Amino acid sequence: MSNKVYIETYGCQMNVADSEVVISILSDKGFQLTQNINDAGLILLNTCSIRENAEQRIWSRLKAIKHLKKKNGEIIIGLIGCMAERLKKRVLETDQLVDIVVGPDAYRELPLLVAEAESGHKAINVLLSREETYADISPVRMDKNGVSSFVSIMRGCNNMCAYCVVPYVRGAERSRDPQSILREVKELFDSGYREVTLLGQNVDSYKWIFNDKVITFSGLLEMVTQVNPLLRVRFSTSHPKDISDDLLKTIAGYDNICKHIHLPAQSGSSRILKLMNREYSREWYMDRIRAIRSIIPDCSLSTDMISGFCTETEEDHQASLSLMEWAGFDFAYMFKYSERPGTKAARKYKDDIPDEIKTKRLNEIISLQNKLSSVSKKHDVGKVFEVLIEGPSKRSQEFLSGRTSQNKVVVFPGEGHKKGEYINVFIERCTSATLIGKIVK
Ligand code: SAH
Ligand code: SF4
Ligand code: F3S
Repeated sequence: MSNKVYIETYGCQMNVADSEVVISILSDKGFQLTQNINDAGLILLNTCSIRENAEQRIWSRLKAIKHLKKKNGEIIIGLIGCMAERLKKRVLETDQLVDIVVGPDAYRELPLLVAEAESGHKAINVLLSREETYADISPVRMDKNGVSSFVSIMRGCNNMCAYCVVPYVRGAERSRDPQSILREVKELFDSGYREVTLLGQNVDSYKWIFNDKVITFSGLLEMVTQVNPLLRVRFSTSHPKDISDDLLKTIAGYDNICKHIHLPAQSGSSRILKLMNREYSREWYMDRIRAIRSIIPDCSLSTDMISGFCTETEEDHQASLSLMEWAGFDFAYMFKYSERPGTKAARKYKDDIPDEIKTKRLNEIISLQNKLSSVSKKHDVGKVFEVLIEGPSKRSQEFLSGRTSQNKVVVFPGEGHKKGEYINVFIERCTSATLIGKIVK
């Protein structure tokens, strides 16, 4: 078998970070990363289960790569990540093509499982762990720009949002040793990175106890900002029930903590939020937004919204729209509710909103957000922002692209500047997705 490994990553940023851990583990055993699937002896799909269509995509992808295996029977195909964890050995029963199935906490076993598959046996490990954080593993970076990277600070989730499969496929929440986080961040800075995004399903509940001292997320953030003032620090995801004024003050207190909070509301109706088991009400969410606005006045805000959750009425839906309008989100990820087997919602409630209504409501949510995003960008025209350059813009080599602290993309004539540099840009106009401006000295 060729020792080249090819990996495709689906789903959230967590999976992106995990794929880098997976490649690191395999490289230590002599595997070489390839960008060309036709060269690979080992093909891995790092999968997502969050909605049914996420899993559908993977099944179609498996069909599409079937011919590679027909051509060369030695190729090993591995399904790893959240869908592997959810379906376990059913993956092997459903698709004869797959040789190995590995859940998110079993990546250290990958070399062994590959060897087993090489000797002709299907191999599987989907054990979840209470401790695994891959803290000692230095991820092999696979980002394109070399400026911005993800750093995983915790794994799993202890919340039980009724619709969500994550606690089942990622296991219990556990935080990673802050020293290993700092070491990874320093390594990134030393190799030219200028931005890190600290990742967890609920970063506000980060907790590390050492010598009877508790390090909270706020404490961790402060430690990471100290690595270097030229390093920007982002984080995701914050949970509305846990985001504290204390944390907001920390964010406000450091120039290199980015002024952007992703605070998924999911719904604007307190009744639906209760059914969702989100543990906050509309009023609580609004109070948190008011706190953000008063403690960090220049902060941008984004959300996730779900349309058509069980029993959602037109009135509940209107409450979601009015909350969005009131909050004036700068950006949003928006989804149709998709029932996931085994979750509380699947066990206890009926998925009773017809698909046409889910789609209609989703479209209303999307068109409102388009309007809000446009208002948010127009608001920036005429102002100057500090931008971290990420590289040439997609359209033209003469233009560079970067982001503001508020996470908005800015495109401007490069004037010889390079990625990784900070420059001030005056915003002249905006399109639907970007701010366009020129460098000011
Ligand atoms: N931990 C994060 C989000 C994890 S999943 C949080 O709590 O916010 C990312 C987003 O997918 C969620 O915020 C939610 O909006 C969406 N999502 C999760 N399960 C879903 C489901 N069953 N159907 C539709 N959207 C879902
Ligand atoms: Fe899922 Fe809720 Fe955990 Fe987010 S906080 S991962 S939505 S259970
Ligand atoms: Fe992420 Fe999808 Fe898993 S959203 S945690 S990759 S189920």
